[in-house]
Amino acid sequence: MDKKKIIELLNEDLEGEHAAIIQYLTHAYAMGEGEMACEIEAIAREEMRHLDFLAETIVELGGVPSLKRGKMRTGGKAVPEWMGNDVLQEEDAINLYKEHVKAIDDPKIKRLLKRILSDEESHHGDFEHFVDKAKKEGAKDIRGSRRDEVTEVLNWGIEHEYTVILQYLLQSYLSPNKEAKKELEDQAINEMQHLGWLAEEMVDGGASPRIEHIEVDRSKKTADMLRADIKIEKEVAEAYDRAAEKIKDPDLKKLLLRIRDHEVYHTEVFTDLLREEEK
Ligand SMILES: [Fe+2]
Ligand SMILES: [Fe+2]
Ligand SMILES: [Fe+2]
Repeated sequence: MDKKKIIELLNEDLEGEHAAIIQYLTHAYAMGEGEMACEIEAIAREEMRHLDFLAETIVELGGVPSLKRGKMRTGGKAVPEWMGNDVLQEEDAINLYKEHVKAIDDPKIKRLLKRILSDEESHHGDFEHFVDKAKKEGAKDIRGSRRDEVTEVLNWGIEHEYTVILQYLLQSYLSPNKEAKKELEDQAINEMQHLGWLAEEMVDGGASPRIEHIEVDRSKKTADMLRADIKIEKEVAEAYDRAAEKIKDPDLKKLLLRIRDHEVYHTEVFTDLLREEEK
């Protein structure tokens, strides 16, 4: 099999991981605090590791990791139904990885896909167990339908965080600058934290988070990537600042200001990197 075809298959796997991550996080956030939500979040983190392995392999082969999100199953009214959807998501992943293990000859990639496959089989069992557990424990969808200025701010924040997570991850995969690579990955992880905080805040406040993103920067050169990142970080630091001023709830205000401080830090980190890159 030629490289181009392998890249295509791995990107298909990657898109599936992306869909699984957002599907599982949507479910975990919607259930609020609790043991099962934590376990689902832990599974989503394993899918993130898979996404990372796949993206790095795609770049090693000379490809560009896809930012498309595969098919999600976010329907279903009650938690046991959601868990059933997660079982189905894992079944799709298992079938796809099995096909790709068979189709790809490269021993290193085969080994990687088998390793991921064994995780998916374990997740499959976990979600089957969660179907019963959700029924027994009466796990509930605690999201509400609140819509006002506050939920608008939070949804804007979620959209921004999701966008930069994808942007910084993609850049970290593509940049040959080792230091930039590391910082971009670190800041992407920090943005994931922000997304989680905002989504949980949203659910606690009786609303329903919408996890969608906007256009991601596609610069090819590290300096251009960093310029785009600095621009975005400056804009959002100001936007979080303005939002915090409008918000009356003191805890939410504090949270927004904490995120703002992180964004200011990101601006500074990226500015230093750009200075180095331009030398
Ligand atoms: Fe999985
Ligand atoms: Fe952020
Ligand atoms: Fe940031």
